[in-house]
Amino acid sequence: MARKYPEHIVLAVSADAAGAADVITLGWAMPASGVPPMWAVSIGHTRHSHGLIADGGEFVLAFPSVRMAEACRVCGSVSGRDVDKLAAAGLRTEPAAFVRPPLLAGCLANFECRVIASLVTGDHTVFVGEVLAAHVDDAESDRVYNFAGRFVPAHPGPAGA
Ligand SMILES: Cc1cc2nc3c(=O)[nH]c(=O)nc-3n(C[C@H](O)[C@H](O)[C@H](O)COP(=O)(O)O)c2cc1C
Repeated sequence: MARKYPEHIVLAVSADAAGAADVITLGWAMPASGVPPMWAVSIGHTRHSHGLIADGGEFVLAFPSVRMAEACRVCGSVSGRDVDKLAAAGLRTEPAAFVRPPLLAGCLANFECRVIASLVTGDHTVFVGEVLAAHVDDAESDRVYNFAGRFVPAHPGPAGA
């Protein structure tokens, strides 16, 4: 499994019925359909986000910029059960058009997704979300990647650097 790095990182935003949002850092995410566009995300059963997405049936999938590496660390190391991660990570939000979870400002792209299928795997669930709207920020260009535990730009250089 370690040979898969560098791995892209995405942030998935979910919300409870009252609109309180949580953000989870994910490496396990992929396009799942082109027409219509869909994203698949794999989320551990213990994550707070798991219950929010299972119950709410919606998520926003965002591509964080390399300047958001610290926010990715925060959102990937504490739980929304215990911490308001938007505040802890200094994330700014904007309302989405079609789903309850908000968009994340400063990301290269935000995809509003509605869950159309889910598959329980071993200790994760793969949620497949159809993209209802996509928002692209042309001011942002460099995504952040995970290189074996380090948050790095898109071109991390030779292995082990
Ligand atoms: C780089 C990185 C990638 C991660 N990828 C995943 C993932 O694909 N699926 C997952 O369930 N957790 C993943 N995690 C762990 C969650 O982000 C972490 O457990 C988080 O604190 C859960 O937050 P929540 O309880 O608010 O949902 C990752 C963490 C990091 C730092």
